[in-house]
Amino acid sequence: MDKPDLSVRIAGVLLQNPVIAASGCFGYGNEYAEIIEVSSLGGICTKGLTFKPRGGNRGERLYETPAGLLNSIGLENPGIEAFIEKELPRMRTLGPALIANLSGGDMDEYAQGARLLDDSAVDMIELNISCPNVRSGGMAFGLDGERAAALTAVVRKAAAHKPLMVKLSPNAPDIAAVARACADAGADAFSLVNTFKAMAIDTERRRPVFDNVGAGLSGPAIRPLALRMVWELYGALHMQSPRGANRSKPLPIVGLGGIAWANDALEFLMAGAVAVQVGSASFARPPSMTEIIAGIGEYMRAHGLKTTAELNIRESYPGPGDSTPGA
Ligand SMILES: Cc1cc2nc3c(=O)[nH]c(=O)nc-3n(C[C@H](O)[C@H](O)[C@H](O)COP(=O)(O)O)c2cc1C
Repeated sequence: MDKPDLSVRIAGVLLQNPVIAASGCFGYGNEYAEIIEVSSLGGICTKGLTFKPRGGNRGERLYETPAGLLNSIGLENPGIEAFIEKELPRMRTLGPALIANLSGGDMDEYAQGARLLDDSAVDMIELNISCPNVRSGGMAFGLDGERAAALTAVVRKAAAHKPLMVKLSPNAPDIAAVARACADAGADAFSLVNTFKAMAIDTERRRPVFDNVGAGLSGPAIRPLALRMVWELYGALHMQSPRGANRSKPLPIVGLGGIAWANDALEFLMAGAVAVQVGSASFARPPSMTEIIAGIGEYMRAHGLKTTAELNIRESYPGPGDSTPGA
């Protein structure tokens, strides 16, 4: 049988395979170039970038939990101008599609950053409205549809030439409502999920581990939750017709959350994701993404599948999804 075709297109951007390094877990790709074959990845998302440089949060920043990782980095980054000047030229030589993860403290800062990125050599912008670790901006924009749509519209206008993927928060009470509002405001794709707001307490010191108290939970612990959210969002965007008519165009979803092995990635692709991102797993096992790409190819060969779209089983389960909790 012919080699399966792993390539995918997201909002017009061609990726050689559906595996993307998630934001904040792969630096700017350059750092990993000596450890793994970075050129074999489908895409790389940068660490969250802001118009102005940021030093990040004080105190503890990373804390391991059973099957998970808590982080409170606080968007440490050199600022978008410095990123474009110092990191992007080398990143551009690596090969994978380049996705700039854009954040900001308020709408103006997002817009200023978006304008700079619009003029740069990145292939796509991932709009981060879901960072739980900053006091202003970040997740505050991602919890309700109105604020998320207002920000999406501002960034859409400021970066008119770049495909725009909005990174949704699993902490929003109604993720589908946020997504529909962003779609109407000009989003081209979604990524889901960012980290879940969580915390830990240092019992000896009798105080929360993190200075901000809350932190973001990632890793295998969140995978079944994230998978359920991707399944439901696909149903809401692609299959459900609110009030009789599907008003929003069905935008592609990039799924992530706890993916560490090929089988994990296959679950998300079956749930309707067009591609996946891998975050925390790269810390524990740097070659995890290259292994996942190989594993997806092997699975497709073994099952006689020619394209990754054939992995999608979601269309066989009509409706928005059943979120009834088990007993
Ligand atoms: C240390 C760390 C830093 C992160 N920084 C960012 C960031 O800057 N922007 C962003 O959108 N997501 C950030 N994330 C979230 C990840 O991109 C991803 O959405 C989340 O970790 C879930 O995926 P995973 O379970 O595969 O890690 C960060 C996650 C970790 C663990």
